[in-house]
Amino acid sequence: MRAPKILVFDSGLGGLTVHDEILRLRPHAHFLYAADDAAFPYGRLSEDLVVARVMNVIARLAEEFAPDIVVIACNTASTLVLPHLRARWPQLPFVGTVPAIKPAAEKSRSRLITILATPGTVARDYTQALIREHASHCQVNLVGSQSLAAIAEAFMRGIAPEVDELARELAPCFVEQAGARTDTVVLACTHYPLLLPHFIQLAGSKVGWPVEFIDPAPAIARRTDHVLSERGFIHAQSGDHGEGAAFFTSGGAPDDALRAILRRYGLPAIRTGQLAFEAA
Ligand code: DGL
Repeated sequence: MRAPKILVFDSGLGGLTVHDEILRLRPHAHFLYAADDAAFPYGRLSEDLVVARVMNVIARLAEEFAPDIVVIACNTASTLVLPHLRARWPQLPFVGTVPAIKPAAEKSRSRLITILATPGTVARDYTQALIREHASHCQVNLVGSQSLAAIAEAFMRGIAPEVDELARELAPCFVEQAGARTDTVVLACTHYPLLLPHFIQLAGSKVGWPVEFIDPAPAIARRTDHVLSERGFIHAQSGDHGEGAAFFTSGGAPDDALRAILRRYGLPAIRTGQLAFEAA
């Protein structure tokens, strides 16, 4: 059987954290990694705008790439758009990325958990529903960061994060109440695990105390792998790698430093195409 074609989609480079885990499980697959950098960041957009934009971009990419599966590697989009995508393309499997509230609530001993996400994700009804369903025994602290996604994006483009700024963004994650402390922080934006080594270093030294950070990417990759298996895509035995390309909706060519990073993620080719975004 042929290798599957996997489309991984995010507003920017955060979805690479998910792509990387899928690549480990399915090295023979053909990947198109699509970053909607023309509309980044999604966290500041209205819900209607996110839905309309993602539907447009996926329509174009689905036509061009003909994927066997689409992974929406973005919490800000997944918490809104999955039902719309599934209704429009009923034959195509979609795997989403939504805040890992269930595992956090199961793991936490102090029952004080934080969801660190974009302002969009913390405001979603979907996020509230996950809390009601899986974390009613916990106190859930929702933190919508205005700038972490952009800091992570810049970091991938060679700009080191400023320690004080990161500490300021992380500070609201730490809650102390009646002798208990936050012990689990869900990274509910796919950009944030790009900064995980910084977070681990800061927690307990510059801000708060050591906590467990939950990166959902491995679980999303397992889900993607499982759906592909259900559809008959077996794990190939040969050592060959599939093809990998990155697509940027701005049409802007990545510079050499970013190209080198994309190669490390198994994405040596760049597909150009422009999908202009008018926010107004
Ligand atoms: N990576 C996206 C997420 O998982 C959001 C970043 C943005 O605001 O565009 O939520």
